[in-house]
Amino acid sequence: MSEVLGIANLAVHFRGRRNWRGRHPPAVRAVDGVTFSLGERETLGLVGESGCGKSTLGNAVLRLVTPTAGQIRFEGRDVTGATGEELRALRRDVQMIFQDPYSALNPKLRVGESIGEPLLAHGLAQGAALRQQVSELLGLVGLPPERASRYPHEFSGGQRQRLVIARALALKPKLIVCDEPVSALDVSIRSQILNLLMEFQQKLNLSYLFISHDLSVVRHISHRVAVMYLGRIVELAPRDNLFREPLHPYTEALISAIPLPDPVAQRKRARIILKGELPKPTAPPPGCPFHTRCPIAIPKCREIVPLLEEKRPGHWAACHLRG
Ligand SMILES: Nc1ncnc2c1ncn2[C@@H]1O[C@H](COP(=O)(O)OP(=O)(O)OP(=O)(O)O)[C@@H](O)[C@H]1O
Ligand SMILES: [Mg+2]
Repeated sequence: MSEVLGIANLAVHFRGRRNWRGRHPPAVRAVDGVTFSLGERETLGLVGESGCGKSTLGNAVLRLVTPTAGQIRFEGRDVTGATGEELRALRRDVQMIFQDPYSALNPKLRVGESIGEPLLAHGLAQGAALRQQVSELLGLVGLPPERASRYPHEFSGGQRQRLVIARALALKPKLIVCDEPVSALDVSIRSQILNLLMEFQQKLNLSYLFISHDLSVVRHISHRVAVMYLGRIVELAPRDNLFREPLHPYTEALISAIPLPDPVAQRKRARIILKGELPKPTAPPPGCPFHTRCPIAIPKCREIVPLLEEKRPGHWAACHLRG
């Protein structure tokens, strides 16, 4: 499978403002040495608790935040320091869909104008050709083309997310970074939107970096899943392997917290409750970042950082004790 996106040793640290003593507060290590690659027509799910750096990683791909270190490759080109036309091209080929379809659409614009805006901005269509493309995009996401002249408030939450997807597809991107795209939607509508995204993946040869804190959503849509903890990937594996045989104790705890549909199975199952708080990303613990909450940690875990290693073919984990 050829690589669409490649991330190597990526770090994004946020440095706070100097305080009244002229000192910098400690930097937030939002992303701290992340490496993975994403293939054509592949979906990589990115999961982890709030604050672990998922959105920062997604934003770094579009260069909405500046990497502190490491490399971002897109279709084989190094775009880590891209500027000007190169950055413009990147932002045409890589689109983003956010959680909140309410704020993603300008309430004062007719939805047809919002959907056509990227085409206009990149000088790709205007006039009748633009209207035609907007109609086609609306049809593609299952909305009647004549609704292009309506305003966002006239649509439901699920329909608005369809509009947002139509706009993201306008420039025929190769990769879409989806940041919690269904988290704000009713459960009943979620699978419709996920299925729509999956359908477009095949039809339009799209790759997705799919961010969510919801493991069941990620399980539905992903080919491979990466688990993040405190700015690092602690496990990365094909979906079925990850859910069948999680190797990292953190992944195990996350999976044990997914409610099971069968109440008998639910009662029998042991849920792993993590002790302690999520450490601050300004001061990640030494050694394994998870050791402060890990149920199986040994003294070595407090001192030596475990590397992300391929423990089984295609199944990577960062744990001294597993695999
Ligand atoms: N612009 C910024 N300046 C300073 N710190 C930031 C900035 N953006 C994010 N952070 C910090 O970086 C860390 C990672 O944040 P991020 O939003 O990437 O997490 P997340 O995994 O997307 O969380 P959530 O699931 O809540 O969306 C957090 O500690 C956050 O407070
Ligand atoms: Mg986020």
